[in-house]
Amino acid sequence: MRDYYIAGNWKMHKTRAEAAELARSLAGQLKDGKHRYLVAPSFTLIETVAAVVKGTNIRLGAQNAASEEQGAHTGEVSVLQLKDLGVETVILGHSERRHTYKEDDALINRKVRLALRHGFEVILCVGELLEEREAGRAEAVCEAQTVKGLEGVAAADLGRVVIAYEPVWAIGTGKTATPEDADAIHAYIRGVIGKLYGPDAAGRIIIQYGGSVKPENAAQLMAKENIDGALVGGAALKTETFVPIAKFS
Ligand code: 13P
Repeated sequence: MRDYYIAGNWKMHKTRAEAAELARSLAGQLKDGKHRYLVAPSFTLIETVAAVVKGTNIRLGAQNAASEEQGAHTGEVSVLQLKDLGVETVILGHSERRHTYKEDDALINRKVRLALRHGFEVILCVGELLEEREAGRAEAVCEAQTVKGLEGVAAADLGRVVIAYEPVWAIGTGKTATPEDADAIHAYIRGVIGKLYGPDAAGRIIIQYGGSVKPENAAQLMAKENIDGALVGGAALKTETFVPIAKFS
């Protein structure tokens, strides 16, 4: 069976002192947690958080990475630099990268392949805008983002890929997809993986849900057949809200 995987995307929040405090508190409260855990702080916080989570059951993630290994790329951070800090996982294709910073599928795919080549686990985010959902295009959008994001990814590397379904209209809005609607898209994405990599790979791939996950809705979402975890934004910023999600029952 698939393990539940609960990840906190801290986005552009916290100072080093605040990040260290949150990481310490999570490490203490999740040490007997039964699922897989990850925190993804801003680049400037990674070294601080790395020192705290080292040797715990919390993996260290980054929220983005450059599409090139090194060179003249002002303002970018490379997978080599992230590896040097102990980062094991990179979140790629987040909707804020796609829509606010105009990252397209081709760029995201280059990042995915580079990160996998360097041994990282990749959380590839997909999800439709409200107008795409209203136009009945949610499945098609998620399929295209999944197929294009994984172009050229070998079956042997798929074990290090996690998909996060994050409907854009549910991110930071307090509106969560119903467990049934989310599960339907997760099942669809699992089918897409099946078409690309076969039924075994489809059965194994972890698909997280993201978008206003809270302590109050985590258990209902996780109860669904195709929902294997969560990518949590706002509620990941406090122990009081992340821990109950991470320890949902
Ligand atoms: P919220 O949980 O704040 O809606 O954010 C979700 C998200 O974008 C996680 O990557």
